[in-house]
Amino acid sequence: LIQPIILSGGSGTRLWPLSREAYPKQFLPLTGERTLLQQTAARVADRSQFLPPMVVCNAEHRFIVAEQLRQIGIEPAGIVLEPAARNTAPAVAVGALMAGAADPQRPILVLPSDHSIRRPDLFQAAVRSGLAATTAGSFVTFGIKPNAPETGYGYIQVGQPLAGVPDVHAVARFVEKPDAARAQQFLDQGGYCWNGGIFLMRSDLYLAELKRLEPAMLEACAAAFQAAKRDLDFIRLDAAAFARSPNKSIDYAVMEHTAHAAIVPVDMGWSDVGSWEALLMESPRDDNGNVAIGDVLADDMRGCYVHAESGVMVATLGVEDLVIVATTDAMLVARRDRSQDVKRIVEKLKAAG
Ligand code: GDD
Ligand code: MG
Repeated sequence: LIQPIILSGGSGTRLWPLSREAYPKQFLPLTGERTLLQQTAARVADRSQFLPPMVVCNAEHRFIVAEQLRQIGIEPAGIVLEPAARNTAPAVAVGALMAGAADPQRPILVLPSDHSIRRPDLFQAAVRSGLAATTAGSFVTFGIKPNAPETGYGYIQVGQPLAGVPDVHAVARFVEKPDAARAQQFLDQGGYCWNGGIFLMRSDLYLAELKRLEPAMLEACAAAFQAAKRDLDFIRLDAAAFARSPNKSIDYAVMEHTAHAAIVPVDMGWSDVGSWEALLMESPRDDNGNVAIGDVLADDMRGCYVHAESGVMVATLGVEDLVIVATTDAMLVARRDRSQDVKRIVEKLKAAG
């Protein structure tokens, strides 16, 4: 059986003002009735293939996580609480330590909680394809067909097929978040996938790579896990020990360097819902290409994403290609093609205190 480890520590600033530090995007029902976290947990609910999930999240979000899983009838194997965010490599380390305590070779499936996947059946099939390679020692990634030189993703050059494991290829090269020129070069050259941010590997081998590549991180995480305090489902990592861990993502810490990376390319309708524009593209649109959520009165509107939080009413007249998100205490009006820049507003707000 595979141990799913759901990472739920991000803050999703590009979906401001709906996504906030206190309530980031994985906890919002952005692409359906269920929140992204709930969709993630539901994707690995087949108990003949997957153990109950572990969730690693910020301590402040513990009740939101517990409540959202309860709502969909999922009993987690544990909710690991980080006293402060140290990025994904340490979060996965703690998950691997916990999974490995039961069975050192246990395969772990690392799942970001901020994605939408339109074809969960294809995702599950890809995981089944990857499992044989994982057991044999591969760090399996899932490759998404790129459609633009996005700089926010990892790029994976697909290598030779692995002998004896259908659908799985070696990774020739893993480049996390290249600059725009390099991203364009990869697209022009062809043979590259985006990294879907989902990883399947044995817990013992992940910990062994950390020992080799990031020994201080492994030491800090092991100490934080050993001194963790349990109450109910919550596993509270030791703050002082965890704070010693370097702050690094799994992509930079391990995937760019390991010789064991492999890839299953899969066309599963993946989106990381990374911006209002991405969300508009993921959502069902009306005949004029609009998405209107909540109390919205639109007259002659085209290509807009309008979201009115409960208690707010939005009326538009003769507008095109805008994002309008109105909450009770903040409102965003932006051109659709500036979606990626919303994080600049959040930075300004932070700087202003
Ligand atoms: N528990 C925990 N702690 N979770 C975290 C932390 C942390 O400190 N930091 C991030 N996460 C969670 C996020 O909530 C998200 O679900 C997932 O881990 C990935 O983190 P992101 O910060 O969103 O990573 P990214 O989008 O910049 O890059 C990753 O995902 C891309 C695909 O969306 C990389 O793996 C890229 O290579 C990949 O292309
Ligand atoms: Mg992300």
